[in-house]
Amino acid sequence: MTTPVWKSVSELNHRNGILHLEGIAIPDLARTFGTPLYVYSYNRIKKNYHRLVNAYRAHYPHFEVYYAIKANNNPAIVKLLAEEGAGADASCIPEILIAKQAGIPDHRILYSGVYNSDHDLRYAVDHRTRLNLEDLSQLYRLEKISIPEFLSFRINPGMGESGIKGLVFAGPDAKFGIIEPDVEKAYTQAKEWGVKRFGIHMMTGSNVLNPHYFEQVVIKLLDIAGPLAKKLGIQFEFIDIGGSLGVPYRPEEEELDVNQVAQSVVRALRAKLKEYHMGEPTLIHEPGRYLVCDAGVLVASVASIKQAHKTFIGLDAGMQTLLRPALHGAYHHILYSNNLNAPCDRKVNVVGQICESTDTFAKDAMLPSATAIGDQLVFLNAGAYGYSMSSQYNSKMRPAEVLVKDGQACLIRKREQFDDLIKGTQFAVFS
Ligand code: LLP
Repeated sequence: MTTPVWKSVSELNHRNGILHLEGIAIPDLARTFGTPLYVYSYNRIKKNYHRLVNAYRAHYPHFEVYYAIKANNNPAIVKLLAEEGAGADASCIPEILIAKQAGIPDHRILYSGVYNSDHDLRYAVDHRTRLNLEDLSQLYRLEKISIPEFLSFRINPGMGESGIKGLVFAGPDAKFGIIEPDVEKAYTQAKEWGVKRFGIHMMTGSNVLNPHYFEQVVIKLLDIAGPLAKKLGIQFEFIDIGGSLGVPYRPEEEELDVNQVAQSVVRALRAKLKEYHMGEPTLIHEPGRYLVCDAGVLVASVASIKQAHKTFIGLDAGMQTLLRPALHGAYHHILYSNNLNAPCDRKVNVVGQICESTDTFAKDAMLPSATAIGDQLVFLNAGAYGYSMSSQYNSKMRPAEVLVKDGQACLIRKREQFDDLIKGTQFAVFS
């Protein structure tokens, strides 16, 4: 085995120039399962989970990870994380169902739906899922349904951060969370209506690579929670600081040092818990990206190469397969998996087959001129918000997903077929 080809992801390396994930050659996976194909490393996900848990528990034993299912909702992956000990952050009813079926107990599933309907609220209450409300009006509607014994609120602490504009989830422009002036009203009303046990939550931004950010935002949240707990005479059973932990997408970006993050967050947390006499509540982090992103790759085959004003490499994957570049202008590093030793000597635009100009993965990227039709290009960091954001746009079928572990590959989601595309529809109507 050689050294990793990407950061500390030792599961991703090459033999004789051919890219391998957990000992399996990517071109072999492409031949066996077809492309486009999402491939995930079992051991990398496991390592990411334990690295994070160990970093925090070294300083604060009451620490839990709740996996944000929206990042990658494949049941095999949710189950893998559940078996390691993760709870779940569910954003909708189907994610609650996936969490339950993966074996996560009800009290370790936190439902953080946004702009919930009455149906959503009723479902969560009926299924004993813990509710994390993100607006005062939802509490008033919940009162008409049923007031649970436990309730948490998602707070907008007034600050948010991300390297991508669309991934800032708090602050004055955010559609998420309860604004500071309403927080006291929410907890006071909930207490009056009989809620006995409380949590507090925030989710301020995604893909944060600044290690100093987390302690600042924890301080901000605790400065809201602390005085409130004292005034209302309530105890918070948990402080949930959301996900947000970033991963490097660009070669020049550095991996987040989670030991440093954990140390500084816990230092700030302990000081604030002491200041406000809040005991030792459970600290919850609910990452999606950090756990699965660098464990996954998207494998695409070159379908066509066009020499126009520029050289365009057209793939069988597009914005319908991996939406992040089109939606967020996000960067994904691309490797020529058939021969990593080939010099990157040709300037190309890498595009998909969709009828949109934004269906472009990379502009003026340097890739080997050896890249030929039928070869594979591999997108790194595709384990999070890859398949889960895919669509059938331009009548494309969604790709397959494969989990690899120690040289073995398992198909964990079949490639869609034409029947899946027209399922539930009919050609003849109004005869
Ligand atoms: N908790 C809540 C309530 C969330 O809304 C999210 C993500 C997470 C946790 C997990 O956040 P993470 O650890 O992954 O930062 N589609 C975007 C990312 C959107 C994130 C939405 N919420 C992307 O492609 O980067």
